[in-house]
Amino acid sequence: MRAAVIRAYGGPDVVRIETLPAPVPRKGLVGITVKAAAVTRGDARIRAADAPPGLSAGLRLAFGLRRPRQPVLGMFFSGRLTEAALSLPQDARVFGNTGMAMAAHAEALIIKPERILPIPDGLGDTEAAALFFGGLTAADFLIDKAGIGPGARLLINGATGEVGCAAIQIARFCGAKITAVCRAQNHDLARDLGAHHLHDYRDGAPKGQWDVIMDIAGTLPWRQAEALLAPGGMLLPVTASLGTMIGAMLRPKRRDGRRVSGTSSADGSDAMRRVLDLHSRGALRPVIGATFALEHIEKAHALAENGHKRGSVVVVM
Ligand SMILES: NC(=O)c1ccc[n+]([C@@H]2O[C@H](COP(=O)([O-])OP(=O)(O)OC[C@H]3O[C@@H](n4cnc5c(N)ncnc54)[C@H](OP(=O)(O)O)[C@@H]3O)[C@@H](O)[C@H]2O)c1
Repeated sequence: MRAAVIRAYGGPDVVRIETLPAPVPRKGLVGITVKAAAVTRGDARIRAADAPPGLSAGLRLAFGLRRPRQPVLGMFFSGRLTEAALSLPQDARVFGNTGMAMAAHAEALIIKPERILPIPDGLGDTEAAALFFGGLTAADFLIDKAGIGPGARLLINGATGEVGCAAIQIARFCGAKITAVCRAQNHDLARDLGAHHLHDYRDGAPKGQWDVIMDIAGTLPWRQAEALLAPGGMLLPVTASLGTMIGAMLRPKRRDGRRVSGTSSADGSDAMRRVLDLHSRGALRPVIGATFALEHIEKAHALAENGHKRGSVVVVM
């Protein structure tokens, strides 16, 4: 099989297409012929060993000290079952999340059956590969951590990337009043997805008070977010430095009932089912900013790391 392989941490040009032996399904794992896979900001971070401040050593401990232990990255994919599984026939359309095992940037992979779901009718392979990264993150932070509900004033800082596009849609479905922060050229996208108010971060900090601030861009740490949070409000630090992570663990409750949530999101099978349910209720559709053939995955990595992509970037096999 062809796979995008990373033998050393570095820029997008370290990703090479190699021919590797296809993985053989073992007991308890199912085989997938991959059709499409997302190239996320997370993949770009792992490839470059580029974590938010204070977390680079942790990234290398988790993924490999000198080079990635798993040389094929990619967590979110769509494809076909190579044999019958989960009461589904051979060749059934499935999509899923490999988690820390990664290996989705390849023409074939093996995976635990609980990490895949059937693709619903009407969702194409490219769209299916783009549903989970943003959907899982946004649903967990907004619904589980913030309990977002009708009328809640929500500021989404970094609103038009992969996580932001999902966050606007889920928050709108939950009835929140959304202020989206991104450059003016992306305001049309944010408005189309459901944002009520728009702000360009190049014009300075937004002005107002919000019940929930979702900091996806990582530019609104507590010391800046505090002044923008209403009493009892909550900061969701989606992109968090080590200091923010420790602060959130040690001191989640702050002055006037303001709070900081935990910093990581759930990605298990229940969380995947909820994202699928949101999609089937019309609350969440994938937004594809760009697609590339697998052999051009270097371009996908460059786009994924620049911090300004619209929606998701997907490679098709
Ligand atoms: N904690 C978790 O469990 C978790 C899970 C998933 C992702 N993440 C993190 O979430 C982050 C975002 O992921 P993503 O894929 O959505 O990113 P992305 O696609 O690169 O999107 C970045 C967004 O931020 C905006 N932006 C750029 N610079 C900004 C600034 N200075 N101020 C405000 N907004 C700015 C961009 O708008 P313009 O394009 O208009 O500039 C765009 O809307 C990554 O750091 C990732 O590691 C965390």
